[in-house]
Amino acid sequence: MTHDNKRFVARDRNWHPPAYAPGYKTSVARSPQQALMSMQQPTVSELTGPDFSHLRLGPYDNDLLMNFTQGEGLPQGERIIMFGRVMDQFGKPVPHTLVEMWQANAGGRYRHKKDAYLAPLDPHFGGVGRCLTDDQGFYRFRTIKPGPYPWPNDVNSWRPAHIHVSVTGPSTSTRLITQMYFEGDPLIPLCPIVHTLKDPEAVETMVGRLDMANSRPMDCLAYRFDIVVRGELQTYFENQ
Ligand SMILES: [Fe+2]
Repeated sequence: MTHDNKRFVARDRNWHPPAYAPGYKTSVARSPQQALMSMQQPTVSELTGPDFSHLRLGPYDNDLLMNFTQGEGLPQGERIIMFGRVMDQFGKPVPHTLVEMWQANAGGRYRHKKDAYLAPLDPHFGGVGRCLTDDQGFYRFRTIKPGPYPWPNDVNSWRPAHIHVSVTGPSTSTRLITQMYFEGDPLIPLCPIVHTLKDPEAVETMVGRLDMANSRPMDCLAYRFDIVVRGELQTYFENQ
């Protein structure tokens, strides 16, 4: 696979959240303190990599019900399938790209040394998974629905249930890190991080939809979450 001469559409900074959003307190210290500089051209390494053809995935890498204990015990919580299609902004599927995800357990606790929330760790749940999209751009995970958790932002801030997602797309420069929320969660409109998005339609693109047709009777519900990354300029401007 070659990525030579690829050029991608610029990121729309009105659609993505700003780096500095005072309502999301951590963004104040994390955001750039000086004006951004524009790069005229992406670097070669941004355009030619990465190539995942040598990646060897384990049989349970996309199965969080099994991967932490290798099937010795099942985690607590609502069993779900999370799946969807990775596409570019022009609707072209992105095959064979890496999708990574991480999440809290059913009680809202991460398996991380800095997470000291009251909810207990689940001895049968790690909370990380990865897979490659197939020929048609589809990815799929089996997991449990994470719980909401409180965090120190305002007096009483809670994150809606969410699964963190990183998707690479056709090149390093298209990598997107986002979160999937769950359709109908009343905490979505209360979340200070969700409020950093200016356009309500942008929030809707981050909501996984209940998909009964892809659920498994007496086993798992399914949520569909399609992910859109930047597109190649040549699919838009035919002369380039
Ligand atoms: Fe989180």
